[in-house]
Amino acid sequence: MPTTTPRSAESSVTSRYAAAAKAPEAALCCPVEYNRDLLKIIPQEVIEKDYGCGDPSRYVKPGETVLDLGSGTGKICFIAAQVVGAQGRVIGVDMTDDMLEVARRNAPVVAERLGYANVEFRKGRIQDLGLDLEILDAELKQHPIATANSFLRAQELAADLRVKHPLVPTESVDVVVSNCVLNLVESGDKRQLFQEIFRVLRKGGRAVISDIVSDEDVPHVMQQDPTLWSGCISGALREDQFLKAFEEAGFYGIRLLKRDAQPWQTVAGIEFRSVTVEAFKGKQGDCLELNQSVVYRGPFREVLDDDGHRLRRGERVAVCDKTFQLYSKLPYEEHFEFIEPLVPVKPEEAKPWDSGRDHLRHPRETKGVDYHANTSPSQCCDGGSCC
Ligand SMILES: C[S@@+](CC[C@H](N)C(=O)[O-])C[C@H]1O[C@@H](n2cnc3c(N)ncnc32)[C@H](O)[C@@H]1O
Repeated sequence: MPTTTPRSAESSVTSRYAAAAKAPEAALCCPVEYNRDLLKIIPQEVIEKDYGCGDPSRYVKPGETVLDLGSGTGKICFIAAQVVGAQGRVIGVDMTDDMLEVARRNAPVVAERLGYANVEFRKGRIQDLGLDLEILDAELKQHPIATANSFLRAQELAADLRVKHPLVPTESVDVVVSNCVLNLVESGDKRQLFQEIFRVLRKGGRAVISDIVSDEDVPHVMQQDPTLWSGCISGALREDQFLKAFEEAGFYGIRLLKRDAQPWQTVAGIEFRSVTVEAFKGKQGDCLELNQSVVYRGPFREVLDDDGHRLRRGERVAVCDKTFQLYSKLPYEEHFEFIEPLVPVKPEEAKPWDSGRDHLRHPRETKGVDYHANTSPSQCCDGGSCC
């Protein structure tokens, strides 16, 4: 059996997808239900060369800036272009020239049918989103690497490009999507890949990633098989580790949006299936005390969030303003009741959060110790029943 080193894993991916850009390869296809209305304007060539395993584009919203990692012939980008509309933007990144050629050739056709052009394709490796490989290609054509010194100069140039002309700038994207690509990135680069996704997202942004995961560890011998690697099998992360990778990169609110019950493939008894995961960026920042509390609605007796807050069902828990704001949005809002203090604290007068304080907030903290009101029953009987 031919074996793969980290570099040959990447070469096997590039050569297999270069060929798959020229002629459809059935073995790389995974059945996916797309919104048929959004496929109507996409050229047949793009649809035929579909190597996705899910549909992250269905979670994109109007007006957003979307980055598609490993965009292939561009199908997800062309679907997302319709959802985000003329006010939004879509950027596809791929490292394979033949894939970029098909995507770029079809972009004007889609733009004409849509009535606006909001999609572009850039050449790069998704684990190194700072480096624009087209600028590097052009420089290296003029100054080919012939000696150790020219190799070192090329490395300096690459470092310089990441800073001065980043392929995808830091905090420039609302939502990062990807369809069946993360598994193809070499094991040693996977941590950096998740860090890169985190870097390019703006605060409050999110990643929605469809990929193949395994139910058991993939044995070393399978990881060394270049055909299994480029076929989206041996580079798959174990399903729990896939979610953990987002957590380790600093994401919060990580959840499975979809998990196929049936495996796409089973190899040596190990099941490989498609999942779609959503993860948010934005829990970083100062914690201020604005006397706010939340009540976890249940149904679990107790949950623990990504910052270690332990929330028991029905209890009035004291939280800082940052946590209060995070819980007020997706994916948390439906799980909580939100309680503001009777007298709001002005943000400029807010104290830093005291992490040593009682984790519960007494109702007197919400109302004030001098609160002695007596009120009549509220007027709820007009149009319906009330006790
Ligand atoms: C399985 S195909 C998926 C293509 C596309 N997302 C779709 O849904 O049809 C994988 C694509 O990712 C690209 N790719 C693989 N590894 C990559 C990497 N490290 N950086 C950039 N592109 C990569 C390949 O060139 C190929 O176009």
